[in-house]
Amino acid sequence: MRIVLLGAPGSGKGTQTDAIIARYGVATVATGDLLRAEVAAGTELGRRAKPYMDAGELAPFDIVLGMIENGLKTLAQTNPKGFMMDGFPRDLAQAEALDTLLARIGQPLNRVLFFDVDYEEIVKRLLGRGRADDNEETIRNRLRVYEEKTAPLIDYYDRKGLLRKIKGTGTIDEIRQRIETVLDDVG
Ligand code: AP5
Ligand code: MG
Repeated sequence: MRIVLLGAPGSGKGTQTDAIIARYGVATVATGDLLRAEVAAGTELGRRAKPYMDAGELAPFDIVLGMIENGLKTLAQTNPKGFMMDGFPRDLAQAEALDTLLARIGQPLNRVLFFDVDYEEIVKRLLGRGRADDNEETIRNRLRVYEEKTAPLIDYYDRKGLLRKIKGTGTIDEIRQRIETVLDDVG
């Protein structure tokens, strides 16, 4: 199974990853988590990415692509039953780079799950969470960046026949069940 979780900040991608890993045995590559780990470790890469994250802007392409390449390399060695990407790709350039990478190893994506949640619910969720970038101003910019750069990927993947829309409101368990109905046949 090779899937992408697509959706606005706060749409619940990270929340559902454990259940997906447990059921399908996939490994996860979450660029936001990887970037936060670099910031916490005080690496050069983390120092470069931090101002973008604090502002709710996308981190530079080369940093993020390097992480994905490393992640895929590790996955190839550990041999899980595929992978799930959370928070990547986030614009057209990243989506095309991912297509190229996966074509090179002969392992194209087989599903893209789009978590559909309205912005009012998102702002409520994120203000209630309190991560470093969960203040009102940054949330607003993350949503603006999402709308401008990431949302066009819904159409991009729909045209490839890969997109499955998941209603992202309701209980965490209800959403998990909706995910299973679109992934169980992938195996
Ligand atoms: P990233 O870490 O990806 O954050 P994000 O996109 O802002 O998304 P979130 O993690 O906030 O949302 P989520 O969908 O995972 O929701 P969650 O499950 O946590 O990126 C952070 C930054 O890193 C970016 O702004 C950028 O700077 C940089 N970055 C990352 N990837 C990049 C890339 N590819 N290229 C360039 N830059 C990149 O849920 C949110 C909250 O809602 C939680 O509190 C949760 O408990 C709650 N919740 C979840 N489900 C429900 C539910 N059903 N009902 C009620 N509450 C719920
Ligand atoms: Mg997340």
